Amino acid sequence: MALILDGKAVSEKRIELLREAIDESGLSPRLATVLVGDDPASALYVRMKHQACERVHIGSINVTLPADTTTERVVEKVQRLNADPEISGILVQLPLPAGIEQESVIEAVSPEKDVDGFHPCNIGHLVSGRPRFSPCTPLGIMNLLAESGIELEGRRAVVVGRSIDVGRPMAALLLNANATITVCHSRTRDLASITREADLVVAAVGRPRFITADMIGEGATVVDIGTNRVEGRLVGDVDFEAVRERAGAITPVPGGVGPMTIATLMENTFAAARRLSCGPAP
Ligand code: GUN
Repeated sequence: MALILDGKAVSEKRIELLREAIDESGLSPRLATVLVGDDPASALYVRMKHQACERVHIGSINVTLPADTTTERVVEKVQRLNADPEISGILVQLPLPAGIEQESVIEAVSPEKDVDGFHPCNIGHLVSGRPRFSPCTPLGIMNLLAESGIELEGRRAVVVGRSIDVGRPMAALLLNANATITVCHSRTRDLASITREADLVVAAVGRPRFITADMIGEGATVVDIGTNRVEGRLVGDVDFEAVRERAGAITPVPGGVGPMTIATLMENTFAAARRLSCGPAP
């Protein structure tokens, strides 16, 4: 039976440590979120981020815009936040409503305040092996694996999914940690034969219980990024009950990756405040 990688417990511990570090720093980090439209799931995620800010003594503001806002208007709001010295980090909640050019908005965020790590500049630093801000979900996973004593160096890691926000940065972070990486996606042939060989499988597919026990090698570590809603319940991309019988370690959904993502956002926001207080990066 697999060890459960308890992201909730690890994130709680990191939140406590972060609050102490912020209190001792004398800095006043502040996160600005931008929420466009009225998607209830996005609104819930933004609320959770503000609640986490309160716990770690990070100030926060939310800018709300209607769904029919133009790209230019969102960009203008972001530029104001870039110029505001009181703001350390900016997060534009995704997805944006149809009609708004997501890339233009992401590129409008100052790389120095890009606590989501989505700006091409920060993706470039990450891929070049010298990360500044890394996307919160994959970085949170790296922290969870490190805190759980899971070795990565020289191990075979398979990332299933190649999204900009999760799959690709996950692969880059694992490569930076000297794992041997395979990225699989919807066009991959015979996926199971690849995942079965892996020491670590990261599932970022967006399909409930897609990764089944026959796809996992005995003793492998399985990380589930899925947040699928099935009959009102949150269900991962991994068939948890069956896979836990084969895996060596596994993240649950909920209580695995999700809490680590939010803790990492808080850590990135404090890092942004620290960096801004030292002047521009070299
Ligand atoms: N929507 C779902 N996950 C995320 C995230 O990590 N950052 C932002 N900005 N939007 C999201």
